[in-house]
Amino acid sequence: VARLSVEAGYDVVLSNSRGPETLRDLVADIGPRAQAATVRDAAASGELVVVTIPFKAHKTVPVEPLAGKVVLDTGNYYPARDGQMASLDDRSETSSGLVQQHLSRARVAKVLNNITMANLLSLARPVASQDRSALPTAGDDAGAKTAAAQFLDSIGYGSVDAAGLADSWRREPGTPVFGDAVRRVRKPRGHARGEAVIRAALEHATH
Ligand SMILES: NC(=O)c1ccc[n+]([C@@H]2O[C@H](COP(=O)([O-])OP(=O)(O)OC[C@H]3O[C@@H](n4cnc5c(N)ncnc54)[C@H](OP(=O)(O)O)[C@@H]3O)[C@@H](O)[C@H]2O)c1
Repeated sequence: VARLSVEAGYDVVLSNSRGPETLRDLVADIGPRAQAATVRDAAASGELVVVTIPFKAHKTVPVEPLAGKVVLDTGNYYPARDGQMASLDDRSETSSGLVQQHLSRARVAKVLNNITMANLLSLARPVASQDRSALPTAGDDAGAKTAAAQFLDSIGYGSVDAAGLADSWRREPGTPVFGDAVRRVRKPRGHARGEAVIRAALEHATH
């Protein structure tokens, strides 16, 4: 995401759990528009903040620096990694809904959860390309979803509005939209998936 963002003209600030010094080589590789900071400083500096950590760590994301900001949550719930949660298993809650609960004053949009890192790079295409892929957005705040769609557009993707966070289980692991992404893992340069395919896949998701 940082690489595509820099290519699109954004300045990016990266953070991780170990500290900015551990990101020195990555930042140098991405180029002068990238820098590393602590989690709190990265959260404070971003206009658009991407939270892309294992779901089980979401409560460590600092709340106060993200107040009022659009937060893009790429997360997925994997019980084997994140621990079993009955409310996520029965779809009465969603991982991004819980991220929004934690970041109560931020405006959370779920995006980018159903495409792998490698495919995100290889399938990005300029506007109006015949083989441009679309990705679902979801969120309870219309402005956040618009910002997410504009961000996707800037890094090489169309978007499909996939409603609110309560419905975002429709694109979690195991659903058709997610399965589509899994096939892309095996065929990194596989076919683009346009808006109609994504819409149909979201509709076919079952509990
Ligand atoms: N990888 C993909 O292709 C992909 C695609 C779509 C969605 N996702 C989802 O996106 C999320 C991130 O995936 P990933 O594959 O990047 O996971 P990952 O390889 O485990 O990387 C997680 C990153 O988050 C950092 N991190 C972990 N806990 C943190 C905390 N409490 N505070 C700050 N930073 C923390 C880690 O830093 P340290 O190494 O310093 O701990 C690491 O840089 C997951 O929910 C995943 O399911 C991944």
